Amino acid sequence: MAPACAVAAGDGTIATQAARRRTFAIISHPDAGKTTLTEKLLLYSDRIASAGSVDARRSRPSTTSDWMEIERRRGISVTSTVLRFEYRDTVLNLLDTPGHKDFSEDTLRVLAGADCAVMLLDAAKGVEAQTLRLFEVARARNIPLITFVNKYDRPGLDPLEMLDHIEAALGLTPVAATWPVGIAGDFRGVIDRATGTYRRFTRTARGATRAPEEQLPAAEAAVREGDAWTVAADELELLDGAGPALDEARFAAGEATPVYFGSAISNFGVALLLDALLELAPPAQPRATVSGTRRPLDWPFSALVFKVQANMDPRHRDRVAFLRVCSGRFERGMRAINERTGRPFALTHAHTVFGDERSALDEAFPGDVVGVINAADLRVGDTLYVGEPVRYPPIPTLAPEHFVTVRNRDAARHKQFHRGLTQLAEEGVVHLLRRDPTADPAPVLAGIGPLQFDVAVDRLQREFGVSVRLDPTNWTLARRTDADGAKILRASRHADILYRSDGTQMALFTSDFMLERFQRQHPDVTLDRMLTR
Ligand code: G4P
Repeated sequence: MAPACAVAAGDGTIATQAARRRTFAIISHPDAGKTTLTEKLLLYSDRIASAGSVDARRSRPSTTSDWMEIERRRGISVTSTVLRFEYRDTVLNLLDTPGHKDFSEDTLRVLAGADCAVMLLDAAKGVEAQTLRLFEVARARNIPLITFVNKYDRPGLDPLEMLDHIEAALGLTPVAATWPVGIAGDFRGVIDRATGTYRRFTRTARGATRAPEEQLPAAEAAVREGDAWTVAADELELLDGAGPALDEARFAAGEATPVYFGSAISNFGVALLLDALLELAPPAQPRATVSGTRRPLDWPFSALVFKVQANMDPRHRDRVAFLRVCSGRFERGMRAINERTGRPFALTHAHTVFGDERSALDEAFPGDVVGVINAADLRVGDTLYVGEPVRYPPIPTLAPEHFVTVRNRDAARHKQFHRGLTQLAEEGVVHLLRRDPTADPAPVLAGIGPLQFDVAVDRLQREFGVSVRLDPTNWTLARRTDADGAKILRASRHADILYRSDGTQMALFTSDFMLERFQRQHPDVTLDRMLTR
């Protein structure tokens, strides 16, 4: 018998191991039920024995991502966690994303490490205005999306309306994978459209343990559920006539999404979602490189740094770099080259992260995420490799829409002020802009939303002992330009040119009107909305 520490299933070849991985993120509006659903995925994959109430879970830090003080105070998730668990012999890597649109760039970074995303909607609210931005980010990455309509145990949109709503809000073709039986508020089970069987659920107290489930053929279900069944069967007939079947190529391109109805709190539909992750979500694929080729999975180790997070453990003031393994086998202690610096990097302090718990990780395969602790030399977008050199494309950032001038209140902490700002910019907490690329005593912080500034101020104070003042500015939007464009923009006085910390030249406008006027007069000037580091 193989020792317990051996690679669990199949052989150890890289291709076999990569095929066992599903790496995905859950994207949702705060309160749609992401924490609850995550916990239920862990329950159904036996990673935890029972699920507690949300309140109880919140006071148990090990399964929440709310370890930053600011998250606790505001009740939102700012940082992301990585959870790794197994289900039916498949390794699932779940990358959590913040639920607030102000942190859309964090979502963008996390999606660079994921192969698929679960779009979680509240049955009563659908795609909320505040979340539209997050889903647009996912759409822009053309990442496959699986939709889970949660809270179907409560009154909400009827399922046909929900499908129309998803299509209208996101321009995405929804294809029902399951169909609910019983109206929202009297939810009894779902029809699995692939097999035609009815899965009837029974509630357990607060969904702490798995919901007992019966599988019934249609004839028996009709007798058991009466009118509720007739309504669902009629709707399905309509759908079979009018609705498209899931087109695999369109799903892979992020243009069509299978839709699952469920209730995370009562565990209804959770197992079906897990099955969908196994059957539909793509395993790790050879990743495109900047040279236009794809690095084969079984080539030597390579990885992309998609996220750097300082202060994950406030007791240690550390900095964790999250690497997505793209090819080869990762082994703890191995040395890889950092493509940006050309210098070797020893991957000694490698961990797998479960909430804010860590355990040493000895090996990993394409699709896995490795947390490297105290990786001061690693930045978001870095490629690490062994053997044949490789560089993966940079992770895009979004054009900022909020701008404030940041001033240090304490001249004696000048160094800490600039060190802190540089650190926050490198992590992508905020964009750091300067009027003069070499020196600017009061640089500009730019971002997608003001909550990013709250995080920056909080972290400057707590981690660098720096107290700052933020002053408003008149700018409302920014575009990336180039040296030629900057010259024309300066002369036109329609915009200010500032330099981002990575050298990118940014044109800052006070209004859409000013931007449009300039664009009309100078259609050839580069003004990009998506910014690449
Ligand atoms: P989030 O991480 O997306 O912010 O959401 P979270 O899981 O914290 O859930 C937000 C609220 O929605 C919680 O209620 C939770 O119990 C509830 N919820 C989650 N899934 C379902 C579901 O399938 N059906 C129903 N009816 N509710 C659901 P709360 O009032 O904040 O907490 P609690 O009093 O329920 O503990």
